[in-house]
Amino acid sequence: MADIDGMKVAKDYHLDVPAKVTGDFHVKGASNAEWGMKKHLSNIFDKKSGNTVMFAFDHGYFMGSTSGLERLDIIIPEIMDEVDVLMGTRGALRTSVDPACGKAIALRATSGSSILFDDLSHEINAVDIQEAVRLNADCLAVQTFVGAEGQLSSLQNLSEMVNLGSRYSIPTMGVIAVGKEMERTDRFFKLATRIVAELGANIIKSYYCDNFEEVVAACPVPIVVAGGKKLPEQEALTLAYKAMSGGAKGLDMGRNIFQSQHPKAMARSIGKIVHEGFNDQEAFEFYNDMVNEG
Ligand code: R5P
Repeated sequence: MADIDGMKVAKDYHLDVPAKVTGDFHVKGASNAEWGMKKHLSNIFDKKSGNTVMFAFDHGYFMGSTSGLERLDIIIPEIMDEVDVLMGTRGALRTSVDPACGKAIALRATSGSSILFDDLSHEINAVDIQEAVRLNADCLAVQTFVGAEGQLSSLQNLSEMVNLGSRYSIPTMGVIAVGKEMERTDRFFKLATRIVAELGANIIKSYYCDNFEEVVAACPVPIVVAGGKKLPEQEALTLAYKAMSGGAKGLDMGRNIFQSQHPKAMARSIGKIVHEGFNDQEAFEFYNDMVNEG
């Protein structure tokens, strides 16, 4: 096994060379996937732009209603038309999402932590594969804790979901967790995203960081970027723009949408960046216009 001294950050990531693909499928790393897997990935990633906007409302699985998501039944219908993917728990889906919504579903599949404990890194796979099939999930979201106490069990959870997902052609989305003591550096994200991709995740949900282009270049599957804590709208749109410019294939945003004063305008403005090539300034102007029009 390579020792830790071999862990170098300063390497050649060939940023000028586009990712090599075999075949013409529009999702990175999936050209050799089975038909059903490609169908699910195509439900998530728009064929024209190649990108996706996910609306994350799974925070309740460890934060209860304290995250700013007091009423799922109000916020989800308000945002639904603006996004490609709804990311939630089975409880939220069954109770608060119209099954006729026509949106892709990212099913939160792990649980077991709560904000009452400091260490959030110990989770289990809480959803079995038959349940995911019943819910017609387009991907299974598994939290991973590289470098934390719960690393082993979380990577075990991920591997198990990849094994089951492969059997039923359901993609797995590895969610990179950043704990209190975990660094939010390109060094960490190069390590974590690559580990999770090599264990078989078809999509990685991670965070924007310095040298993000290198993180993307070294990751053989698409990265979607989480929003994180609520920022002023303009800053959140700049984050979205930087992430997309750096090679992200989409945004998976929660708090920066549902905690906004104008969630619908925020979600639509993010879509402008992700699918229509708006820059952050154009998107912020669009956001203001929408807010002013009421
Ligand atoms: C948190 O654990 C969940 O996975 C969220 O889906 C994720 O953090 C994205 O939401 P936010 O944009 O609020 O960070």
